[in-house]
Amino acid sequence: MSPENTGPAAVIVLAAGAGTRMKSRTPKILHEIGGRSLVGHALQAARSIDPRELALVVRHERDLVAAHVTALDPQALIVDQDDVPGTGRAVEAALEALDAEGPLSGTVVVTYGDVPLLTGGLLAELVATHEAEGNAVTVLTAVLDDATGYGRILRADDGTVTGIREHKDATSAEREIREVNSGIYAFDAAVLRDALVHVTTDNAQGEKYLTDVLALARAAGGRVAAVVTEDRWQVEGVNDRVQLSVLGAEHNRRTVEAWMRAGVTVVDPATTWIDATVTLDEDVRLLPNTQLHGATTVARDAVVGPDTTLTDVAVGAGAKVIRTHGSGSTIGARASVGPFTYLRPGTVLGETGKIGAFYETKNVTIGRGSKLSHLGYAGDAEIGEDTNIGCGNITANYDGEKKHRTVIGSGVRTGSNTVFVAPVRVGDGAYSGAGAIIRQDVPAGALAVTLAKQRNSEGWVAANRPGSASAALAQSALAESAGAVDTGAPSVAPTSSTTPAPTEEG
Ligand code: UD1
Ligand code: MG
Repeated sequence: MSPENTGPAAVIVLAAGAGTRMKSRTPKILHEIGGRSLVGHALQAARSIDPRELALVVRHERDLVAAHVTALDPQALIVDQDDVPGTGRAVEAALEALDAEGPLSGTVVVTYGDVPLLTGGLLAELVATHEAEGNAVTVLTAVLDDATGYGRILRADDGTVTGIREHKDATSAEREIREVNSGIYAFDAAVLRDALVHVTTDNAQGEKYLTDVLALARAAGGRVAAVVTEDRWQVEGVNDRVQLSVLGAEHNRRTVEAWMRAGVTVVDPATTWIDATVTLDEDVRLLPNTQLHGATTVARDAVVGPDTTLTDVAVGAGAKVIRTHGSGSTIGARASVGPFTYLRPGTVLGETGKIGAFYETKNVTIGRGSKLSHLGYAGDAEIGEDTNIGCGNITANYDGEKKHRTVIGSGVRTGSNTVFVAPVRVGDGAYSGAGAIIRQDVPAGALAVTLAKQRNSEGWVAANRPGSASAALAQSALAESAGAVDTGAPSVAPTSSTTPAPTEEG
């Protein structure tokens, strides 16, 4: 119990159910929407009302669920339900565990691990109403067009809530009731404790129903009331994969809308997916078919998309990221990435830098203003500032057993198709010729060339490919230039004796 927690005495999250309709080897509440597990959403909502204690009841796939919950929320108390079934038994188990350090008093909230759109705001409203009205029990309800399967809210003629009837136990008249139990409640701890003792398994399902507590509390003289929510999404549970996708889409719709209201332009909300854990600044623009996952952040004025998926990527202010698949990377302010770029973890691109089309990067730090414009791979490398890496350059970082580093300085210009055979270092201001294979360090300011001199075997095609289309075209080209120049000698391109043009401007 910590003094800064000013909310209810406890929140109990029920999560012992089997979730068989998911047909999954993964426990239902570990499935995700919006980049967070279902139970992660439940914990988030529960924590946001600052309860003094938070307990989660487990049984099905107990170890997997417990490990996941403890990783997300180390303070959560994991409680095992025994083989007496029912929501009442689950709450009883939690209450016993919570009472172990001295009996709880005050408000105890019960929620489910599989209701992912419930917000802390609605929970806080439930608690506030419960406490302001001095209720013994306050149940969160919704009015549905089709209430099939849900517990129905029973009210007296004056509207007072008198109890809950489970669908399977209800009469046909009771089944006409469209106000349903969400399964989310605020209880007075003492009332809950006393009532649960009297809850039996004498019902259609042979379960200990938590819902029976309402009638028992009333019989004991307590006030029972309901908070009716207009927002049915917040009380909707996931039972199968169809509901998972429907609630996932609604979660996303809400997230995207919230970001638009906060000043983000989203050109096509229907194809833009943003995890609950992503943060965006004002005046970010998201173009169609963009997915932002995990701890991704996008700073002011940056443009992301179209067709971009970023997971745990920090995008700097004013950067442009087009048709890119990236993870675990940092993109500097006003830098540009894409189109068709694959950023793997550990990529750090400096301000105003560029990683262009058909580039793959991994574990590479690229200094301010440096450009890797087209067609290449940079891995396990460090590149200084204002360096221009030519088209088709790669770092050959892997010798078949180990990875090695390439270190390239600032102000470097490399020719097309340069290969850096790591480990290797290139000094500041150095150049390389087209096709250079850099196996040895290049000193600052040097030009590195490695190719053998070009040799042209004149007449080779006519001799070796007689009768081919190439031979015919060559013959007429030669005849034409012989006629034009009229020297009598066959004309060929002049052979170069100077150093090759070393750079490929990006
Ligand atoms: C329950 C309510 C019903 C309500 C509905 C809302 C009871 C008796 N009925 O119905 O009035 O309309 O929720 O969705 O409470 N759980 C446990 N231990 C158990 C049984 C369930 O922890 O022994 C957990 C489940 O993991 C789940 C939640 O409690 O998160 C609800 O269980 P579920 O079986 O889906 O409830 P229903 O019987 O459908
Ligand atoms: Mg049930």
